Amino acid sequence: MCGIVGYTGTKDVREVILKGLKRLEYRGYDSAGIAVRTDEGIYIQKKKGRIDDLSREEVPKRSAGIGHTRWATHGKPSDENAHPFLDCSNELSIVHNGIIDNFNAIKDELVEKGHEFSSETDSEVIVHLLEENYEGDLLTALKKTIRRIQGSYAVVAVQKDSDELVVARNQSPLVIGVGSQEHFVASDVPALLDHTKDVKYLQDGDIARLSKEKVEIWDEKEDLVERETKNIKWDVEDAEKSGYEHFMLKEIYEQPQAIHESILGRLTSFEDIDLSKYDFQEVQFIACGTSAHAGYVGRYIFEKLAEIPCTVEVSSEYRYTSPSDSTPFTILFSQSGETLDTIAAAREAKRRGCNTLAVTNVMDSSITREVDEVVYTQAGPEIGVAATKTFTTQVIIIYLLAIELGLRKGVLNKNKAERYKDELRRLPRKVERILDDKDKIEAMTERLAKARDVFFVGRNINYPVALEGALKLKEIAYVHAAGYPAGEMKHGPFALLTKDTPVIALAIKDHTFEKMLGNIGEIAARDSPVMVIGDEDKEVKKLSDYAYFIPETLPIFSPLLVNVVLQLIAYFTAYRLGQDIDKPRNLAKSVTVE
Ligand code: M6R
Repeated sequence: MCGIVGYTGTKDVREVILKGLKRLEYRGYDSAGIAVRTDEGIYIQKKKGRIDDLSREEVPKRSAGIGHTRWATHGKPSDENAHPFLDCSNELSIVHNGIIDNFNAIKDELVEKGHEFSSETDSEVIVHLLEENYEGDLLTALKKTIRRIQGSYAVVAVQKDSDELVVARNQSPLVIGVGSQEHFVASDVPALLDHTKDVKYLQDGDIARLSKEKVEIWDEKEDLVERETKNIKWDVEDAEKSGYEHFMLKEIYEQPQAIHESILGRLTSFEDIDLSKYDFQEVQFIACGTSAHAGYVGRYIFEKLAEIPCTVEVSSEYRYTSPSDSTPFTILFSQSGETLDTIAAAREAKRRGCNTLAVTNVMDSSITREVDEVVYTQAGPEIGVAATKTFTTQVIIIYLLAIELGLRKGVLNKNKAERYKDELRRLPRKVERILDDKDKIEAMTERLAKARDVFFVGRNINYPVALEGALKLKEIAYVHAAGYPAGEMKHGPFALLTKDTPVIALAIKDHTFEKMLGNIGEIAARDSPVMVIGDEDKEVKKLSDYAYFIPETLPIFSPLLVNVVLQLIAYFTAYRLGQDIDKPRNLAKSVTVE
């Protein structure tokens, strides 16, 4: 995620762009910058840090410009890696949101031709390709440029000699603001609402040219098209949440995109780290809260796909364990990269001689300085305190790593690995199908909102999902909940089962299914309301008070789908109870104390 803004018109370009960028800071704030056209060339200001850190020096008044607020993906947050980027002649400039998969190959080619690069980013190749393709018409150059690039992009380009902006979109959002004698373009509507409520959403493959007088749009077949102008009814705050009432709900709905971004470029080969450098005889996962639950799920994935024995430790307890004789490869999960318990565990793991890898969502966060290797999830900023899309993308990284290691170890052959990868590709669509069922899922929560205690039970790889479902309900709905291995219920918690104690049972058709059916029957016999989330089954329908069936998938991928249902259950229960969903009491997004 990054935020981009472009403007052409008669207002103060710098003011329009900076104000727009401020509205997009939720999309990232690692660096910020603007580029404004002048007769002498393109005037640029860019800097690591927030938009307010940009200097207030006078910008020559001109009628077109672009701006960017960055969520770092390729290249750490720094002045050099900040957008906009310039071509070699200082005549063209671009901002980009997305990931260019084939940037390495393009960069090598352009360097060979004499182009000089000033950053480590994937985005900079776009402006040099534009320069290479430019023969007097920026739109034609952009068309040629996007034929070369693979990946996701929202790009806006400006040139020295014209007030026009040209833009292109593929898998990253871009919306045009329609004004009178002025036009805008941005990653999201909040950036436009101070100036206009009339917008045109671009579609994948669209290219557009904006001047102060008009907007022209071409579709992916390069046919000139009309995109409907919509009138936005939201105010700015609603718009930052894209119309969702809470960031948490928005982030739940962003999961198909987050999965897509996280697998992008990693399915052909996992090049984030040189795996051959390390010993993967044994692995340990360390994390806190939801990230620890991703680790627990990961243990089953690693053991099945790569036959690598795994242990999982909660960060705050790791230091009290005795160092084993071996030094397991240690993977630390932290959405924020700032959780002090996990940072301390990373130091301790190093002290014990382990090789360490951090999986985090925040570029250049503190944990990245403590470990040997870093892999970034591509979830985009997560604002709601409850972790949702970052759990999903952490688990995606685990699948990708396990498949790669399984292939290297010969545990998986190519066909099998491809089968798993195909299913990964299908997951975004399956998550969307669950999100389309939100009303059905919401209906279950009437009972949960009245409960004092709720149990979540699962077996095998869905046992940690039960833990995660319980954590989400406690955290945002303030309903006491406990996750249990289904088989353990009879060893104590059964004493708490009454007609007022709902049990959410996760029933997936793997080798534990028959046993799970038995557990569901035992719970129902105690008169507890049973709500089942899992694979479609007649017996489940008979035994349960409520059943929600997830789209068909391989059992190993079921945790991701089941968990989305549990996120919605927690959200709607909290909503019914009127809780402060994005900022639950006593909690913080990053826990920087031990
Ligand atoms: O940033 P981290 O992933 O290290 O955070 C770990 C936990 O604090 C976090 O997952 C917490 O449990 C969430 N609020 C749960 O939704």
